Amino acid sequence: MSSRFENKVVIVTGGSEGIGLATAQQFAAEGAQVVICARNEDKLKAAVESIREQNGRCEYQVLDLEDTESFSAMIQTVAEQHGRLDVLVNNAAVTRHRTIEHMTLELWRKNFCVTADATFVGTKTAMAIMAEQSNGGAIVNVSSSCGSRATIGVSGYSAAKAAADSFSNCAAMEGAANNVRVNSVVPGSVATAASEAAVAGNEQIQDAINKTIPMQRSGRPEEVAAAICFLASDQASFITGVELPVDGGKLAQLYVPTTLI
Ligand SMILES: NC(=O)c1ccc[n+]([C@@H]2O[C@H](COP(=O)([O-])OP(=O)(O)OC[C@H]3O[C@@H](n4cnc5c(N)ncnc54)[C@H](OP(=O)(O)O)[C@@H]3O)[C@@H](O)[C@H]2O)c1
Repeated sequence: MSSRFENKVVIVTGGSEGIGLATAQQFAAEGAQVVICARNEDKLKAAVESIREQNGRCEYQVLDLEDTESFSAMIQTVAEQHGRLDVLVNNAAVTRHRTIEHMTLELWRKNFCVTADATFVGTKTAMAIMAEQSNGGAIVNVSSSCGSRATIGVSGYSAAKAAADSFSNCAAMEGAANNVRVNSVVPGSVATAASEAAVAGNEQIQDAINKTIPMQRSGRPEEVAAAICFLASDQASFITGVELPVDGGKLAQLYVPTTLI
């Protein structure tokens, strides 16, 4: 395995499972000192153990990202304790799916509290730290194809992802002169606990979703992690302000089903 992140300090929000865990594992496998945060301590402990078993360096913080003040304080503490901050991955999301008829203003705002608000606060805090470092830093925001494509029942989630995408691109402009790169990955359907819960474990629904994807399957968390690590690495040193789809071709697809051709 290459060591793209030797001596780098990396924070991954929501790093205890799914895409965040796969990302933390990949950063650690490539030499990074990783800090993950989430709410459930047992899952955080298990994640850290899985990384240490592979000789990776990882620590955790129990944190609810809805508490944006504590999130900002945590980023500053990590940077002080480790002497620097090279990468922030804003991965965690809070989702409240409802049709508009059943969406309350409270639930609508819940969709924004982590996806948009914590992404803003985390990026603002990390940018200030990274701007002071001679080699800058990289921020990767985890979006969703829902940020630019519509379906029923996800208006709050989709609007929050679209807000985060737009913010991310503006942050890229403001960070560029200080070598702080800000990019997004845009996953389509990815097999995680969250996506399984969304289809309530119904394999028929999952199969139907998979058939609409040009590559005929959902993604694996490691495949999104690989894109995140690429954008965070020096290999992407001249890339900022991009939204990189990791979706088996779904966003590029024309509406004509391939079965008709
Ligand atoms: N899976 C997909 O198909 C898919 C598709 C497109 C985009 N995405 C995006 O990819 C990202 C990761 O999704 P995933 O499927 O990997 O999710 P997941 O498996 O449910 O993992 C979510 C992680 O975020 C943490 N988290 C949730 N709410 C939090 C809060 N308030 N404060 C701190 N941590 C919190 C969770 O831990 P705790 O619950 O312990 O806090 C967990 O570590 C999200 O931004 C999601 O929108 C996923």
